[in-house]
Amino acid sequence: MTVRARVLTHAGAPTVEAPLELVEPGGDLVRVRLTASGVCHSDLHVAAGEWAAPLPMVLGHEGAGIVEAVGPDVRTLRPGDHVALSWYAQCGHCRQCRRGRAWLCTGTRSIDHRLPDGRTSLRDADGADVHALLGLGTFAEATVVPEAAAVAVPADLPPGIAALIGCAVTTGVGAVLNTARVRSGDSAVVVGCGGVGQSILLGLALVGADPIIAIDLSDERLAHARTLGATHVLRGDDPDLAAHVAAITDGSADRTDGGADHAFEAIGRAETITMLPSLVGRGGQAVLVGMPADGVRASIDPFDLADAGKQVLGCNYGSSVPAVDFPRLARLYTAGHLPLDALVGAVRPLDEVDAAFADLREAVGLRTILDLTA
Ligand SMILES: NC(=O)c1ccc[n+]([C@@H]2O[C@H](COP(=O)([O-])OP(=O)(O)OC[C@H]3O[C@@H](n4cnc5c(N)ncnc54)[C@H](O)[C@@H]3O)[C@@H](O)[C@H]2O)c1
Ligand SMILES: [Zn+2]
Ligand SMILES: [Zn+2]
Repeated sequence: MTVRARVLTHAGAPTVEAPLELVEPGGDLVRVRLTASGVCHSDLHVAAGEWAAPLPMVLGHEGAGIVEAVGPDVRTLRPGDHVALSWYAQCGHCRQCRRGRAWLCTGTRSIDHRLPDGRTSLRDADGADVHALLGLGTFAEATVVPEAAAVAVPADLPPGIAALIGCAVTTGVGAVLNTARVRSGDSAVVVGCGGVGQSILLGLALVGADPIIAIDLSDERLAHARTLGATHVLRGDDPDLAAHVAAITDGSADRTDGGADHAFEAIGRAETITMLPSLVGRGGQAVLVGMPADGVRASIDPFDLADAGKQVLGCNYGSSVPAVDFPRLARLYTAGHLPLDALVGAVRPLDEVDAAFADLREAVGLRTILDLTA
């Protein structure tokens, strides 16, 4: 089957539209007619050449659609099912999968941007391999993915919301619920309030964290953060961030026990990652959600970590099991507990991917949703 897609041929160059050949959905593969895709900073990391990736490639990994065809070994899905896509298709067999930690699977081929059997899902007009980012490649009309990458969601879930559950929401809300296990009344800081950071804010509001402090360089993002539940906002270029956070969070009578219970970094910059442990108090957690460019290193203050009993936690995909967490997040949205509509920014057609990247680079507007039915 031939599909229309946006292809990245050179890092740093604009994407180009091309018709591509999609493999047949044999075995446990599923063909999904895509309805919506978010544009996440992880797509931009690849487009900008900050992450090494085999090119040419169709970017996009925050997607949703409708199952169109299934291979003979598919058990859980049928044509017509609405799905949100997981960018980390677990193998189901490795030690991490058996321990229930799908987000740490070592058998996945998603990170090679290939199907489980090692093929790429796409070919160009000359028959040459074209990779699909994380095995999804949602900047296209359709995709073929393993069954483990497609999770059924309610048919009445808006496509853009289902797409956001595929990355930003599962990552951000999962960071709060699964990785950090924030409790009601815990204090929290979110550094970087883009699509992922906003999802962290919604997760913190959901569990009743207080205070919730949002930090960003964009006044527009900070104003929006307040509508998502932030009780305080601070500018990222303020030189005294740690002191302000300590003052806001200190609940002790003698003002000596400040610092947040949890701080989340959702940018992926060395400076903000290095700063993160200074924002948490004694026994607090610094949670690394943002993904830096290849090769970035950040330093730590080991005495402070040991002396104050602080923890630094890494967070991949919100420590989530998509088959469990996608339906749960969809239910929380439908029941009115997670106002995910507040994350949606401009809605654009597929051929405006590069304009969406420009907005993302400049932190203009909210998360762009590509309407793939347009
Ligand atoms: N851990 C995971 O599984 C996972 C999943 C998805 C995305 N990510 C990563 O999360 C990060 C964020 O993704 P996103 O789509 O939300 O990006 P985004 O570009 O939408 O948001 C980044 C935000 O950080 C702000 N910012 C930039 N520099 C700042 C500074 N010095 N101080 C304060 N704020 C600053 C920007 O204004 C923007 O609001 C990326 O690195 C992405 O790759 C990780
Ligand atoms: Zn993403
Ligand atoms: Zn596995």
